[in-house]
Amino acid sequence: MAVDIRFDLNGNETIYTGNPSERLLDVLRDSYGLTGTKCGCKEGECGACAVLISNRLVNSCLVAMGSISNKCVVTIEGYSKTERFSALDNAYASVSAVQCGFCIPGMMMASEGLLASNPDPTEEEIRIGISGNICRCTGYNSIVKAIDIAAKDYKNAKKENTASSGIGSQKSKPYEFAPTTLAEALKFRKITSLIPYSGGTDLMVPPTCRESEYLFINNILEMRNITSDEVFIRIGAACTFTEVIENPLTPAILKEACQQIAAPAIRNAGTVGGNIANGSAKADSALIFMVTDSLLRLVSTDGERTLPIKEFYCGKGKTVLADDELILEILIPKKGIDNYYYKKVGARNALAISRTSFAGILDIDDGIIVDCATAFGAVCDVIIRYNEIDNKLIGKTLEEARCLKNEYLKAYDEAIQPRRGRVGIEYRKDICMNLLRDFLESNGI
Ligand code: FES
Ligand code: FES
Repeated sequence: MAVDIRFDLNGNETIYTGNPSERLLDVLRDSYGLTGTKCGCKEGECGACAVLISNRLVNSCLVAMGSISNKCVVTIEGYSKTERFSALDNAYASVSAVQCGFCIPGMMMASEGLLASNPDPTEEEIRIGISGNICRCTGYNSIVKAIDIAAKDYKNAKKENTASSGIGSQKSKPYEFAPTTLAEALKFRKITSLIPYSGGTDLMVPPTCRESEYLFINNILEMRNITSDEVFIRIGAACTFTEVIENPLTPAILKEACQQIAAPAIRNAGTVGGNIANGSAKADSALIFMVTDSLLRLVSTDGERTLPIKEFYCGKGKTVLADDELILEILIPKKGIDNYYYKKVGARNALAISRTSFAGILDIDDGIIVDCATAFGAVCDVIIRYNEIDNKLIGKTLEEARCLKNEYLKAYDEAIQPRRGRVGIEYRKDICMNLLRDFLESNGI
């Protein structure tokens, strides 16, 4: 099905006519001849395809055309016409941060993405900023130096061409299946063949992604708020991980987990709702919602329901989300979640998928454990959360908990049955038990 999608490309109002499920990367290269954007892995792992959308760095291989209706896209070709590019270019040259033609466009876009949001980055922040860009022959140290040098000249350099004066200010009618209100989205949700597309970072990985039809829910205002009331912090399901990290209302445990999700380009696109809805046991933010016993608010044209997230999952990749429902928001209880422990074990920080992750919360009041909660991700088909085992420690003093420690660990040792995946069963089990022990010991148990 060919549709018209209006967007701004390097400062020019553009109408794309074609399949809305096509990858932005392929369209840039094949339809517009913008071959500076490179195709590497098509899985969001290498950063060669990086572009800016609404001034945020994203991997264009994981972006479907339907999601960019009315948005501003900047590629290396557009960015290279700015003063800021010249400042960066000079800085790269000054320290011989020489990259091959395959890596450098993505590195430059990542540099701009970082400096646009953080004009004075530390060395660690620079390394995180480019962590999603892989140089196959290694040359990171000089790039880090170059970005540090560029930061000094950057503030005064003009940014023109990196934001449009076209579509961004004169909104046109968006593509039909990219609604901007919840009411419209729920109406289209009745078309059950449409797959809800929020961030695209998961849906766009399979080579067959362009054959699916999507309902683009990444622009729905009601799903993009983060608010707080007496009891809950409410996170809109279409909030990206970056938006969650940047919001002052976000609890520390969720912020920390989101900061460890892959690299900036993934965090700028991936959403908490998408992370939950795919039903994956590896979903990092879902692990935090599980350990905090958060609630999900699900909506359809027939009404709404709120249920504990634990009841949302019903097997590998399976959830109870009805065909006509959407996740509207996640309700995190405010009380008792400050004393937490979180660890993610993976091959490298910027890799999206963890090998095992663990979160624990111990709420102690006046020497008594009033709540104990643990959750394990990426171990078996669903996120593990055994309330009945954790309840053994509730109501106990730390001294009593120390006496129960072996019994508690034994119960977990018997209950956790890891599945073989990228790593072996025994390895996974060892990590789980070590993290659990560390969680207890860090709390004096
Ligand atoms: Fe590798 Fe897009 S091609 S991240
Ligand atoms: Fe391209 Fe290292 S510069 S692989």
